[in-house]
Amino acid sequence: MSDAAFWRGRSVMVGGGCGFIGSYLVPELVTAGARVTVVDNLESGTVEALDGVRDSVRFVEADLRDRSAAVDLARGQQVVLNLAATVSGVGYSHRHHGEMLTQNLLSALVPLDAARQNEVERFLVVSSCCVYPQDAPVPTPEDSSLVGEPESVNEGYAWAKRIYELAGQYYGRDYGMTVTILRPFNIYGGRYRWQSSDKTHVIPALVQRIVDGEDPLVVWGSGRQRRNFLHGLDVARLMMRCVARGVAGPPVNLGFETQTSVAELVELICEAAGRTPRVVYDTSRPEGQLAKAADSTRLRQLAGEYVPVMTLREGMAEMVQAYRQRTSL
Ligand SMILES: NC(=O)c1ccc[n+]([C@@H]2O[C@H](COP(=O)([O-])OP(=O)(O)OC[C@H]3O[C@@H](n4cnc5c(N)ncnc54)[C@H](O)[C@@H]3O)[C@@H](O)[C@H]2O)c1
Repeated sequence: MSDAAFWRGRSVMVGGGCGFIGSYLVPELVTAGARVTVVDNLESGTVEALDGVRDSVRFVEADLRDRSAAVDLARGQQVVLNLAATVSGVGYSHRHHGEMLTQNLLSALVPLDAARQNEVERFLVVSSCCVYPQDAPVPTPEDSSLVGEPESVNEGYAWAKRIYELAGQYYGRDYGMTVTILRPFNIYGGRYRWQSSDKTHVIPALVQRIVDGEDPLVVWGSGRQRRNFLHGLDVARLMMRCVARGVAGPPVNLGFETQTSVAELVELICEAAGRTPRVVYDTSRPEGQLAKAADSTRLRQLAGEYVPVMTLREGMAEMVQAYRQRTSL
């Protein structure tokens, strides 16, 4: 069956579908002809994420940590794609490990078990590259994950994701559910919803501060930290490909080998915004691992070759334009 034929007419529940990735995934599912139910407690997402597809999806405001709600909502679904999570930038995460651990475990395990109880055929576990230890080789192959502690700034969040992955693998084995486990790396895109500064991710935070004219521009860390960045639309399309193809078993990286440093990002954003601030790197602030990029061998084997929708230069221009549009409203 082709990927397109897989989604046509299928009942799909998207947990946390009003968030950033959901704002790309839900419209793609609608375009593919799926019958979509979005469940979100609006803790950080908004129904505006569904703009353009609001009339084509069923939206239920509910908390997936609530077991009876999760069981009711998973009833009759063929696929559950669970994006629900408490997600933050390192500024917040590194001071709230307990909250990140418990809330992320609940938003993960309760819907997983509800899907099992309702004999849902396929389930997507959305993990994160944060599961990898600080000294993992870069680009990082999947089997480096459970060796050593995860990076310290994200440890509560990362342990929740490690346990979620394990549960997904056990449920696949024990109950015959096809559980796809993906580890996205850093994601960006113009549908990002800017919020308070310590909860914002690296690209949107830089875009906001550069466009707002901060000068000098003080950047956390050395500027040498390198990341692989992938657009939200790429993430949505790759998630759909992997689930349609029945990818199951061990986790799969959702990212590629290409790396861009924070200093290079600053340059691209300044160019897109037409700004020339003096840039100061504050090495006394946490910056996370020096490099993070995926070994994409397994992803390419399972999902086929993939060409990202845009270059990072085009992506930064899109981010700058999106931020300007949002702040001019
Ligand atoms: N954005 C990234 O760079 C990135 C990177 C790696 C992994 N991820 C993972 O991808 C998934 C989606 O991330 P995102 O960036 O879209 O985050 P997001 O915060 O924008 O979206 C999460 C959504 O889940 C909702 N939600 C949270 N808890 C819920 C609950 N208990 N019940 C119902 N809804 C709930 C929120 O309101 C929000 O709409 C998460 O699992 C995250 O860990 C994201």
